[in-house]
Amino acid sequence: MLSSLPRPVIFAHRGSSAHAPENTLASFNLAIQQGADAIELDTMLCADNQPVVIHDEKLDRITGISKFVKQLTLEELKTLDAGKYFKPSFEGERIPSLKEVFEVCGKKIFINIELKNLSTPTDNLPQIVAALVHQFELENFIMFSSFNPLALIRIQKLLPNTPVGLLADSGLNGYWARSWIGRFIKYNALHPWLGDVSVKLVEEAHRRGKRIHVYTVNNPLDMSRMASLDVDGFFSDDPLLALQTLNRGNNKS
Ligand code: G3P
Ligand code: MG
Repeated sequence: MLSSLPRPVIFAHRGSSAHAPENTLASFNLAIQQGADAIELDTMLCADNQPVVIHDEKLDRITGISKFVKQLTLEELKTLDAGKYFKPSFEGERIPSLKEVFEVCGKKIFINIELKNLSTPTDNLPQIVAALVHQFELENFIMFSSFNPLALIRIQKLLPNTPVGLLADSGLNGYWARSWIGRFIKYNALHPWLGDVSVKLVEEAHRRGKRIHVYTVNNPLDMSRMASLDVDGFFSDDPLLALQTLNRGNNKS
């Protein structure tokens, strides 16, 4: 459960993505091995409506293919290499389905599932993901987050006891999310951009009974500053560095 994790919770952002290709089983397994408290992953639907774990809607950055995730089926996506671009030694890593991540990591580590359907806000991603969570009985091992408020409202109806985090973009968009949009959602945690975090923001969130999980914190100075500001958690591409910086002994690697 979220409330029983250490504070601040160190979320391995897209897995241990400083050391392994993001959003792959290699990066999630590494995060577990390094002793991260939780992993964060991004998920969206592919052409045959299966939730796959990838950040960008377009496949070019990760696989070199000039197509969109939603144009290819899971079987077609599985033919693409999602590791070679990061380092030749990761050649052969694949884009995982959410089901595979649940099979490999479920119940081993807490998972923040980011619903990435901002450009298709009314698709069936919440229903499909909720069914998978039920199937794997992971209700107490996960939380959801999204920049898409509709996705959060829909997932809350399906899984009312699973915490949700409202992602707030940088700058003005973030301001609107935190103030205006935030009034329509009973979210458990605010997920602000690092540059928007201040003593006031943390105090306000806590006064309103919200947790605060900050993204993306990769520099040791920022990690220490977040801890001293008393945030409840932060996302980092380098969970091992975060553990070391916060003197949270790690005996797993
Ligand atoms: O959940 C924190 C972070 O993942 C949000 O931004 O673009 O990395 O998914 P992004
Ligand atoms: Mg994300």
